[in-house]
Amino acid sequence: MKTGVAIIGAGPAGFLLGHLLRAEGIECVVVERAAPEYVLGRIRAGVLEQTTTDLLRRLGLHERLDAEGLVEAGFCLADGERLIRIDTQALTGKTVTVYGQTEVTRDLMDAAPARGLEVIYNAGDVTLHDIESDAPSVTFTHNGVAQRIEARFIAGCDGFHGPSRRAIPARAGREVERVYPFGWLGILADVPPCHDELIYANHERGFALASLRSKARSRYYIDVPMTEDVANWPDDRLWDELAVRLGPEAAAGMTRGPAIEKSIAQLRSYVFEPMRHGSLFLAGDAAHIVPPTGAKGLNLAASDVTYLSDALIGWFKRHDNDAIAGYSARALARVWKCERFSWSLTRLMHRFPGDGPFERAMQVAELDYIANSVAAQTAIAENYVGLPL
Ligand code: APR
Ligand code: PHB
Repeated sequence: MKTGVAIIGAGPAGFLLGHLLRAEGIECVVVERAAPEYVLGRIRAGVLEQTTTDLLRRLGLHERLDAEGLVEAGFCLADGERLIRIDTQALTGKTVTVYGQTEVTRDLMDAAPARGLEVIYNAGDVTLHDIESDAPSVTFTHNGVAQRIEARFIAGCDGFHGPSRRAIPARAGREVERVYPFGWLGILADVPPCHDELIYANHERGFALASLRSKARSRYYIDVPMTEDVANWPDDRLWDELAVRLGPEAAAGMTRGPAIEKSIAQLRSYVFEPMRHGSLFLAGDAAHIVPPTGAKGLNLAASDVTYLSDALIGWFKRHDNDAIAGYSARALARVWKCERFSWSLTRLMHRFPGDGPFERAMQVAELDYIANSVAAQTAIAENYVGLPL
């Protein structure tokens, strides 16, 4: 098979890129290792920046987003006692929208056939070839048959563990990484949220986040050591801990219920740069990971593919080599700023091993400063709603 762009991975990055290219009539094929049900089964953050909702709108994929997404005019930081509201709408004129990543993926998946976006699921042994040439290819097995896609470019949208980034020789790039010494234990439950806006709390006992998927489905997290076992956290213990860490106001509004899902995820900051090697471009988690504090993962994937689609459309329509050459630097400028924000919010809201009374006092002082400074609130709000593209 021959195509213009072979896209590896049918997560948000791969799907969005595929739709953006098809909207301009550019030939592309998405190759995905997993089955569609698996792709839709992943539970991840659900806070969309306006740049991301604008992108879905531009693609005409906003019907369910408009009907079911919850527009949030602000969010809260908490210091264990009080809630510090960051009024993003008043401070920046922008909002975020709560709409689960699962729902975004479902909308992209459902729209693919009608828009001529071919997705090959259940592809085994996906391997990249000749990425330093002008004629790269991707091989894989499908239903036991060996397949090859010859393309002009490959887009590596295959997440942190996919083969694309690994196809780049180590000498051609650098990895920058911080692995945090804790994870987030998350619980998803069909109960109304405790508050209509997100609450990120830093309590003496540790971090907690109150989030939501809808008016009837809540998502909460606490931080735990990575050595912790989910089995040590029966629902009641987790609800009790959340009520303490989130503070009295949130606890008063909290409805408890059985977990639909409960799991622990490692926190990591990671960047591979540059995001291009020869005919291979990386986008989304394939190139970078942010800790979930601030919910930037999906939004960064969306900004990457906005830049990448611009570059590829420029090349296919106008033979514009500069756009292709500029992709990595353009994407990384935004990636590093989002890495900084996610890291700084993580540092502010978590207790790190080795932190003592001094570090705690610094966090309390910073939260108090934020509570009383419009300038500090504006800096946080600008990053939270999404930096301009
Ligand atoms: N071959 C083909 N596809 C693969 C392979 C492989 N060997 N390995 C992984 N994939 C697929 C995965 O099954 C997944 O569907 O690549 C896709 C990558 O999707 P994501 O991990 O969702 O990454 P991305 O699209 O960059 O989205 C970034 O989603 O992962 C979250 O937290 C992340 O919110 C962020 C956003
Ligand atoms: C979530 O709803 O899962 C969520 C929200 C905000 C975050 C991380 C996760 O920062």
